[in-house]
Amino acid sequence: MAPFDPHSFTDSSHPLTTHIELSMHLDFDTKTIDGSATYTLQHPHTGDLFLDTRSLTIHTVTETPSTKPMPFSLQNHSDPIKGNLLNIFLTDQSSFRITFKTHESASALQWLNPSQTAGKKLPYVYTQCQSIHARSIFPCQDTPRARIRYSAVLNIPQQMSSAMSAAHMGRAEPCIGEAKGACSDDKWVAHGRVVEHFSMQQPIPPYLFAFVAGDIASREVGPRTRVYSEPSPILEAAEKEFVNTEEMIKQAENLFGEYDWERFDLVVLPPSFPYGGMENPRLVFLTPTAIVGDLSGGHIVAHELAHSWTGNLVTNATNNDFWLNEGFTTYAERRIVEVVQGKEQAYLSIGLGCAALREDVQNFKDNLGFTKLKTNQEGIHPDDIYSIVPYEKGFQFLWRIERQVGRSAFDEFLKKYIANFKFQSIDTETFLDFLKKNLPGIEKEIDLDVWIYGIGIPPDFTEPISTIHNKVLAASHNFIAGKMLSDEDVIDWKGLDWQLFLKNLPSKLEESQISTLDGRFQLSESNNWDVKVSFLTIVAYSGYTSLFGKIEMCLKEVGRMKYLKPLYTGLLQSNSGEEGKKLARRVFEEVIDLYHPISQGALKSLLDKFS
Ligand code: BES
Ligand code: ZN
Repeated sequence: MAPFDPHSFTDSSHPLTTHIELSMHLDFDTKTIDGSATYTLQHPHTGDLFLDTRSLTIHTVTETPSTKPMPFSLQNHSDPIKGNLLNIFLTDQSSFRITFKTHESASALQWLNPSQTAGKKLPYVYTQCQSIHARSIFPCQDTPRARIRYSAVLNIPQQMSSAMSAAHMGRAEPCIGEAKGACSDDKWVAHGRVVEHFSMQQPIPPYLFAFVAGDIASREVGPRTRVYSEPSPILEAAEKEFVNTEEMIKQAENLFGEYDWERFDLVVLPPSFPYGGMENPRLVFLTPTAIVGDLSGGHIVAHELAHSWTGNLVTNATNNDFWLNEGFTTYAERRIVEVVQGKEQAYLSIGLGCAALREDVQNFKDNLGFTKLKTNQEGIHPDDIYSIVPYEKGFQFLWRIERQVGRSAFDEFLKKYIANFKFQSIDTETFLDFLKKNLPGIEKEIDLDVWIYGIGIPPDFTEPISTIHNKVLAASHNFIAGKMLSDEDVIDWKGLDWQLFLKNLPSKLEESQISTLDGRFQLSESNNWDVKVSFLTIVAYSGYTSLFGKIEMCLKEVGRMKYLKPLYTGLLQSNSGEEGKKLARRVFEEVIDLYHPISQGALKSLLDKFS
């Protein structure tokens, strides 16, 4: 009789939802969805059933298949984190139907006007349900402890197509002229519309529910992979960038066991997508900045692919255990990168992770609780404390275990862990029990409590040792000591080398250092967004105003928070004082509507914090 997830109203004594049948009419004029959802529960239930909602209007709750109204109440007061509790009263029922409408401000949806798309012809919409936004699209037990199969019918304008984290079952005219029962609502029978049918046969946590609709074309890039995006030229570029996908899937299968989701499609989203990638099952979402032109965007694909095992099969029970998703996936990503791109690339990525971890631990200096692997997020919105810690500290912990027991024993352990917990949502303690049972004596070799429940960076944290990694670090140290990079130093540098070099420089440089670096290597114009933004972040902090125009262009071009946050923070704390702050405020006002609701929120708090 209690909530078991700090971010959900779901009650531990209530049956969980096992299936949802969704019907959604997407209205691009009002930027809303009219929907109905039919729920199936684990078992019949009598009494209250709590569902999560945020900014939803609930029209009716009815019995099914009869349409008899059922009592319900939607909490007026909105919890800033959890949203509004929807309480339904059941009488020995295991199913019911809700009709609802989303709000224009739904936190999981970004609606783009035609002018905000590449083709400028049609509007576009996409979802981002992680961490706790699925509830702004349809009422649900929005906790990863719930694992739900779903079917969905999307009603969209006929010039559009759609894709979902589910199998596509067909496209049809809406049921004009059909018996009314087949269409749940008269207004759905409209000219110029089509319906697309989807079905997700595997049970997934609600944060993995996803769709996209707009002017979308696709290309095959492998036997089980198709890449979707707006029509050319981005589609051709995506096809080239992701040619290695099938090889990655095969390598990942070697490491973690068979790929369980049948298809591994990719969709390259418009630039406002707030993340690098999102592991929606069967349909990974990607930022267009992943297309670099030299296959280096492949590591994001490797990461989201790895989630197919670590995250989507074995899922964190709540966001308190988020490191089980991201730490394991970061480890798995680097194992894939190691085989596909080579050990040196993997080591550079580990080195970069070390620098990023130190920085984020420092950023949390007044809130060290969030530097633990197991967190307590009671009263905290997961998006507000999103950081690299669960990724890199989680990675380091697993790498530490690997070194302790040896790679082959650890590989065997990983396979067993995944096979044992697939399609389950587990907490950190369940993992620890499994670890101690399967790698007996590990707790005597490694201080598990320090790694899991301790703050900051554990003493047995390790920097990678590799020739290239060391060479790049030496170049950073020499640069700080006044020695400019030579052409020979950087002759075979790719994106990761540059990033590691820049990451190991102080956040503020002299004007002459910046202008020489940019003059020689054109970093402010790099095709690689990671490199460009690492450099421009230094520009922002240093207050090098002649390159502020380039920063402004970046802030207006993409919505990926990994880029926006450091650039805005750099401007707000810039050596240039008021000039940086003024630029940050002006640009934010100008482009706020281009950003995703999640980025808008995150950036607003940044601006408030430093203003
Ligand atoms: N699942 C995350 C993205 C996410 C996390 C969205 C939490 C919302 C809340 C995804 O797998 C991820 O980690 N993306 C990274 C990719 C990178 C590590 C290669 C990103 O977006 O930067
Ligand atoms: Zn991830």
